[in-house]
Amino acid sequence: MGEPWGFPTVGDRAGGRLSRPGGVARLTECVGRKEEARGGTMGSPTLVLGIETSCDETAAAVVSQEGEVLSSVVSSQAALHARYGGVVPEIASRRHLELVTPVVRQALEEAETTFGGISRLAVTQGPGLVGALLVGLSAAKGMAWASRKPLVPIDHLQGHVASLYLGQEPLEPPFLCLLASGGHTLLLAVREHGRSERLGTTLDDAAGEAFDKGARLLGLGYPGGAEIDRLAQEGDRDGFSFPVARVPGLDFSFSGLKTALLYKIRELGEDETGRRKLDLAASYQHAIVRALTAKLHDAAEQTGLQRLAVVGGVSANSALRAALESARFAPLHLCTDNAAMIASAARYIEPIPHPLYLGLDAYASVA
Ligand code: KG4
Ligand code: ZN
Repeated sequence: MGEPWGFPTVGDRAGGRLSRPGGVARLTECVGRKEEARGGTMGSPTLVLGIETSCDETAAAVVSQEGEVLSSVVSSQAALHARYGGVVPEIASRRHLELVTPVVRQALEEAETTFGGISRLAVTQGPGLVGALLVGLSAAKGMAWASRKPLVPIDHLQGHVASLYLGQEPLEPPFLCLLASGGHTLLLAVREHGRSERLGTTLDDAAGEAFDKGARLLGLGYPGGAEIDRLAQEGDRDGFSFPVARVPGLDFSFSGLKTALLYKIRELGEDETGRRKLDLAASYQHAIVRALTAKLHDAAEQTGLQRLAVVGGVSANSALRAALESARFAPLHLCTDNAAMIASAARYIEPIPHPLYLGLDAYASVA
């Protein structure tokens, strides 16, 4: 293969099945466009290889400097952690270790390139599970060092924002961005690529966490956001009245909502909760959507930024998408964690030359 290391073959691994998010299959058929993205037969290629291992997705992607996603491979460990009702950090790290190399290999194959065709690497440095991050960071350092390529460390949250810069119609700053994921809920004023000002955040649970905790109370699987979304489509969102926390400024709070659901479930009892599950899911979801949209509109008023965008796993939610018709959302397969967004963010940051990145460390939380 001419690579400085050997890649193991991708096997059928329980709980770590490689999946191709929607859109990738379509892209792999566009060989001509890929040739173009690689700089044509004569031009010098400018391709970024992204690696993401901050939580329970092992992901790798190849993105052109122009923002075309040539491949995006995401291996979700969700099934592996489901029995514990949440991500077990040590199990996540070990699975990343097994999967990171085959996932990178698959991303290169699907992009119809080799490691030699990559001009720089990008990897998530934080925030996230520190053991999980270290697997991706070490793998990226090793690959970059062995091939003397530059490396770009990426902040995971900036990566989510950069999911908006991909594809045919990338969003251009300035805009107001709601980032709602399993670990974070942030309102950001994005004034230029790679830089944003934090306007508000959650005081307790993140929006995705509220979905996941609510799902658990309703006896649904982990992660529960997508499952609540699915059930809610057949429920009555006015069936129950759940509170939206009144928090001053542009901050959020979701822990009271989760407690309100817990009390409601206790009050209804097991049988009635079972019978009203769809309405409970719809009403609970409606409260989260109301909280998110209200603060986003407040922020638009305060900053004067009228262009709105939503990123992160919760941006896949169909009710949120419907409630914010004028806002920009990343395509569904780029809402939850992926490496295309990490490679995308790297297009706007000066890479660290070989071998200065060897001293980089991962960070667990937002500074
Ligand atoms: O961005 P992400 O993949 O990972 C983090 O960076 O945290 O977000 C994962 C979160 C989970 O809490 C999951 O339940 C939520 O996104 N999520 C959804 C939907 N799809 C994923 N929440 C609501 N509706 C969805 N359709
Ligand atoms: Zn994320």
